[in-house]
Amino acid sequence: MHKGIAIYPGSFDPPTNGHLDLIERGAKIFEELVVAILRNSEKSPMFSVAERLGMLKELTATLKNVRIDTFNGLMVEYAKSLDATCILRGIRAISDYEYELQMALMNRKLEPTLETVFMMPADKYSYVSSRLVREVAQAGGPVRGLVPEVVEQKLREKLDPAYKLRDARQIAVLGKRDSDRREKKRKKKA
Ligand code: PNS
Repeated sequence: MHKGIAIYPGSFDPPTNGHLDLIERGAKIFEELVVAILRNSEKSPMFSVAERLGMLKELTATLKNVRIDTFNGLMVEYAKSLDATCILRGIRAISDYEYELQMALMNRKLEPTLETVFMMPADKYSYVSSRLVREVAQAGGPVRGLVPEVVEQKLREKLDPAYKLRDARQIAVLGKRDSDRREKKRKKKA
């Protein structure tokens, strides 16, 4: 296990199974892993920083050496403020390489003591990205298996405000059906 703190920075809008896979792998290698959500992104996000923070906290609750945080400005400055020694990033396919290389070299120029470490998520997630998940979900497609269940639920609530209401009604109907069935059984026995 690598002593010290590593940072896994990103937008996580929303967190995917690929992100979670990488966090789990990183947690096995680094003594402490800080998953850091960029706050001042130029992109207009689907989920607020607070929502992403909440989802990631829930998803990593059992990983004792993983912490979720947010940061503003330069990532290397944030890393220095934590005394981190490594930046963790995922590479899915060769298409990620150019952007990741550019970013890693820029970060090295800004702070030569910080090392970027690349890891690959499981190949079954090699095509999964937050952008595609948003696109599929926004068009009403299924995202099961691409994101954790809690994220799937949040996507549904975000994209279909009537969902919460429908879900609550369905739970009420199923609950009533259950209690009717129990009542029937009870009467039969009596
Ligand atoms: O998940 P993403 O959107 O690919 O993550 C990109 C992120 C947040 C890691 C990157 O944009 C970043 O570190 N931004 C902070 C500003 C910064 O330090 N820029 C210089 C890095 S080249």
